[in-house]
Amino acid sequence: MQGLPGLPIGAKGGSLGRTNTQENIMTDKASPEQFNALLAARYSCRGFLPRPVPDAVITRMVTTAQQVPSWCNAQPWQMIITRGQATEDIRDKLMQAAMTLPMQHEISVPGKYEGIYKQRRSDCGWQLYDSVGVTKGDRAGSGQQMLENFRLFGAPHLAIVTTEAILGAYGVLDCGAFITAFMLAAEAVGVASIAQAAIAGYSAVVRPHFGIAANRQIVCGISFGYPDPDHPANQFRTPRADAAEVIDWH
Ligand SMILES: Cc1cc2nc3c(=O)[nH]c(=O)nc-3n(C[C@H](O)[C@H](O)[C@H](O)COP(=O)(O)O)c2cc1C
Repeated sequence: MQGLPGLPIGAKGGSLGRTNTQENIMTDKASPEQFNALLAARYSCRGFLPRPVPDAVITRMVTTAQQVPSWCNAQPWQMIITRGQATEDIRDKLMQAAMTLPMQHEISVPGKYEGIYKQRRSDCGWQLYDSVGVTKGDRAGSGQQMLENFRLFGAPHLAIVTTEAILGAYGVLDCGAFITAFMLAAEAVGVASIAQAAIAGYSAVVRPHFGIAANRQIVCGISFGYPDPDHPANQFRTPRADAAEVIDWH
C-alpha cells in the first residue's frame, strides 16, 4: 500500500499538479488507470509505524489537496498538524479525555443509521473487529479498539481540520473534499491516513489545547504516517456499492 511510483503530485511540473501561476498550468494528466489505482490503494489505516513524515512531504500533500474546488473558491479548510512531542502531548490528552469525558462534536453527527446505512456501518465495524480478534459480546475488546482512535493508532502525526463556522454546511462540504484529496495525496507518496470524527468528539480538549479561534469549527482529525503493513487492523478492505445502486438515470 505504498504510493504509486511514477505518480508525482502537486509539485511544479508534477503530472497531477496545478500550480498557482498561469504559465505553469499543467495540461498533462494522470491516466484513468493511475487515478483508479490511487483511489483503490487508499484505505483507512489503523496501525502506523512511528517513523515521522518529513515536513516537505506533508507540505506537498497539503498543496496537492488544496487543488479541490470550493464554493466561491472560499477554501475554508485549515489544518493544525502535529509532529514529534506535539503529537505525544495531544495523544496523552485525548487518551485521558476518552476515559473521563463525554463526547461533544461541534458539527452535528449522524442522527441515526437505518436500513442499508445501518448494515454498512455494522459490516465495516465487524470487518475491523474480525481483523483484530474482537468477538461478539467482548466489551473490553471493543472498548480497547475504540481507544485506539485516541492513541491515534500509533501515528506520528495528527491533523485537525477546521472550517470557518459561518460558511455552514457547504463549508464543511468543501472541507470534506479537501480531506479526501489530502488522504489521496498522502497515498500517492506512500503515506497512510485515517479521517477520524472521533477526534472531533473531544473538541472540549482539542480546542483549548491548540487555541482554536471561536470562528473556526472542528470538522475531524486525520491521523497519518507510514503504515504498518503487518498490523491486524490493516488487513481488510471495505467494499463499495455497485454504480447501478448510486445512479438514477433519467
Ligand atoms: C469523515 C470521516 C470520519 C471518520 N471517522 C472515523 C473514526 O472516528 N474512527 C475510525 O476508525 N474510522 C473513521 N472513519 C473511517 C471510515 O470508517 C472508513 O472511511 C470507511 O469504513 C471506509 O473504509 P476505507 O476508508 O478503508 O475505504 C472516518 C471516515 C470519514 C470519511
